[in-house]
Amino acid sequence: MANSRRKLIFNISIGFYCSAVIQICICSQFTSSSIDQFNKDRGAFPVAINGEIFPWHELRLPTMVIPLHYDLFVHPNLTSLDFVASEKIEVLVRDATQFIILHSKDLEIMNVTLQSEEDLRYRRPGRKLTVLSYPAHEQIALLIPEKLMADLRYSVTIDFQAKLADGFEGFYKSTYRTLGGETRTIAVTDFEPTQARMAFPCFDEPLFKANFSIKIRRESRHIALSNMPKVKTIELEGGLLEDHFETTVKMSTYLVAYIVCDFNSVSGTASSGVKVSIHAAPDKWSQTHYALEASLKLLDFYENYFDIHYPLAKLDLVAIPDFESGAMENWGLVTYRETSLLFDPKTSSTSDKLWVTRVIAHELAHQWFGNLVTMEWWNDIWLNEGFATYMELISVNVTYPELQFDDDFLDMCFEVIKRDSLNSSHPFSNQAETSTHIKEMFDAVSYKKGACILNMLKDFLSEEKFKKGIIRYLKKFSYRNAKNDDLWSSLSDDCLESDSTSGGFCYSDSKTASNTLTFLRENVEVKQMMATWTLQKGIPLVVVNREGRSLRLQQERFLNGVFKEDPEWGALQERYLWHIPVTYSTSSSNAIHRHILKSKTDTLDLPEKTSWVKFNVDSNGYYIVHYEGRGWDQLITQLNQNHTFLRPKDRISLIHDAFQLVSAGRLTLDKALDLTRYLQHETSIPALLKGLEYLELFYHITERRNVSDVTENLKHYLLQYFKPVIDMQSWCDEGSVWDRRLRSALLKLACYLNHAPCIQKATELFSQWMESSGKLNIPTDVLKIVYSVGAQTTAGWNYLLEQYELSLSGAEKNKILYALSTSKHQEKLMKLIELGMEGKVIKTQDLAPLLHAIARNPKGQQLAWNFVKENWIHLLKKFELGSFPIRMIISGTTSHFSSKDELQEVKLFFESLKAQGSHLEIFQIVLETISKNIKWLEKNLPILRNWLLISI
Ligand code: BES
Ligand code: ZN
Repeated sequence: MANSRRKLIFNISIGFYCSAVIQICICSQFTSSSIDQFNKDRGAFPVAINGEIFPWHELRLPTMVIPLHYDLFVHPNLTSLDFVASEKIEVLVRDATQFIILHSKDLEIMNVTLQSEEDLRYRRPGRKLTVLSYPAHEQIALLIPEKLMADLRYSVTIDFQAKLADGFEGFYKSTYRTLGGETRTIAVTDFEPTQARMAFPCFDEPLFKANFSIKIRRESRHIALSNMPKVKTIELEGGLLEDHFETTVKMSTYLVAYIVCDFNSVSGTASSGVKVSIHAAPDKWSQTHYALEASLKLLDFYENYFDIHYPLAKLDLVAIPDFESGAMENWGLVTYRETSLLFDPKTSSTSDKLWVTRVIAHELAHQWFGNLVTMEWWNDIWLNEGFATYMELISVNVTYPELQFDDDFLDMCFEVIKRDSLNSSHPFSNQAETSTHIKEMFDAVSYKKGACILNMLKDFLSEEKFKKGIIRYLKKFSYRNAKNDDLWSSLSDDCLESDSTSGGFCYSDSKTASNTLTFLRENVEVKQMMATWTLQKGIPLVVVNREGRSLRLQQERFLNGVFKEDPEWGALQERYLWHIPVTYSTSSSNAIHRHILKSKTDTLDLPEKTSWVKFNVDSNGYYIVHYEGRGWDQLITQLNQNHTFLRPKDRISLIHDAFQLVSAGRLTLDKALDLTRYLQHETSIPALLKGLEYLELFYHITERRNVSDVTENLKHYLLQYFKPVIDMQSWCDEGSVWDRRLRSALLKLACYLNHAPCIQKATELFSQWMESSGKLNIPTDVLKIVYSVGAQTTAGWNYLLEQYELSLSGAEKNKILYALSTSKHQEKLMKLIELGMEGKVIKTQDLAPLLHAIARNPKGQQLAWNFVKENWIHLLKKFELGSFPIRMIISGTTSHFSSKDELQEVKLFFESLKAQGSHLEIFQIVLETISKNIKWLEKNLPILRNWLLISI
């Protein structure tokens, strides 16, 4: 690849420099055949803004010049909202060339000069270079009058300036309101994946790692933060200050960060001596303490676990008032949305605490997975994101066992299964070249499936071996880039390979030669096995058929919404085959049996007679299981007789798989519903909540479609069936995390279903809260419920909106905004959307979740959808195509639709967008989801109706 690119460059450079004076230079340097080549290719080259030919036509940068070091100076002006900057990039020329291609977007470049090492040595001034710009590829070309020589170093100095960006990308402005009502501005960077180029011209690809020395000029009322500790501050004439930061370790451009703000902080020291600080707007300082405790614990955990020191002397975590995603792992300067970092004991719930802990755990894991070892290209972003998500599980389980994160992790795998069982899913390593495609790679498949597959592999290899493997991977590729295969090699005991490479880390040196074969086999096995999970999209279904002690296993591709009888089923199955590490347990013993299912079918013999078999023990495997014959009945009988014979996570997975199989037409809905009847005796809260989740889902589906008889009967069933446990709930914050989550879920359901005692208690608390002018502390577990009930009157709604504006707690604001979005009055919902579009009272960062929440409200679904259709252009001015908010707005306002008319309407809208040149992967996902919903209702509504009639 690199080679072919180099060849291409050679031809282009000829073409470019000869374009104006082609006759003169033809004969002097180049053969006529290369000129022919240029003349042939000429049309293929783009035209720069000034009309000249731009000498590079690929989206990826050439590799003949690579950056080694950036000296970056930035001076933002928070009054005029712009910045002036300059940089000196030291580059190494690998192949002689007459131009340098860099990324640059929306920057005004004033001056570019070049110095050779010799120029620098003799202090000769730089030679001015001509700059061409090709905005479609976000690239500039620096034209060198004389060739740059291979193996020599040069320095390129660039002076540039720009406005602080309006959105959430590059170097942008963010504002916050103080308690006194004053609005203040800060300047902050957010670069991943391709936005460093909006802040400074650079080689903006993850493979071009370099060192960065950063200087920031600021006013004395502000502070400046960057990746590294500050070395010194220089006072300038006129009172300005200039902070100089230490040179960074070798890193990719997307991890560079700097902030100019007036925030306050709390600090502590990790066991290794690293100084950890949490920064927030001054009035939010009191909400920073939990984050400090958590980040110190988690940093200690990771340094121990990976056996690799965090390489910087400090780590800053900053709560940014305007932030598009949840958080960003910039090396040494991690930035967060306020709700992902700040914890307010008065208004943050246990779920909020878990979220903050998870996000910190995730971003700190990136300091190793992502920052120290980076994927070669964005197509393998799952190596960053899947690992960081997997490490959340490992680290939070150890540092905060009381949060019982395990069951949430399981839920996360279930979430991505929904997506991955549609035909529109994609394999991990998708092709990604344009900025929009690259942004789309940050999706559930990379994050969640990545993490779930790693968890499965850990279960297969054993935790010990998996851990050794990832440590080997991190050590071997430190300050470098890696790809899938590098990971699989490290995860196998491939000492042979590492022995032969100097600096490899081999943990099995003492193993004898006779074991070598086993190592090799394991290595091949892991690679082959993982190829089936990473190169193929989708999730397998394991069909189990037991006859006596013989188990017949069969694998196929699990498809949600496509039935075996459908004509397309066969074609969608073709060529899919996984190496599935299956596990199972039986009624006869506690043993966990293991087997790798590598073929379409296989047969196993059970050691003893048994009344049931349960596959996928603890749900560690990424596959769905269907039991043919009497398999499901045998399990249901066990659940009814004594559910504790099955492990809690196995009960959860039975509920999950049963309802998934209903969507795939493999199990009837009444069978799955029958399975949930044992829930009345369920002792595990996560399992109980899983069953409840499906029943609630059916309630929402029928409510949206106005199927009032079924809705009424479901309501009746839910209230009758869960009454004993609802009535047991108190309105307080006591108990374990799951006790508290059960309380929130049940009371939310009860009030939603208008259960009188619930409404009464919530109304009472809401009135007391209003009377106390918002000072009364309502238990955080029920805060959202109380606000939602309060929001149903006009006075309550208006009061909540006032409090929304005043509140300094992001956790509380989210709860209020949700409550406001549950109003039954369309004009109130419209007002919220208008406020979200205006971006003052409701910040733009909260617009996507707001539209999503309104679309979930049966009275708001049409409103939100119409709004998106009519205001698409305005939305695209706020968020980039392919960005997380845009995808959330699309799926959040459409994927619940379940009628043919709605499907048609959505299809037409997507067609019109495609015609305008906007094409996103999410379109196909949404269309498939709606088709699946339609099919589900057609088939299952009558069954649900009948089942309810016999059940209540
Ligand atoms: N690296 C990402 C931030 C990011 C997201 C960059 C999308 C570019 C595009 C960061 O590590 C991340 O994954 N953040 C998550 C939070 C996490 C706990 C799942 C997010 O922003 O949602
Ligand atoms: Zn991440």
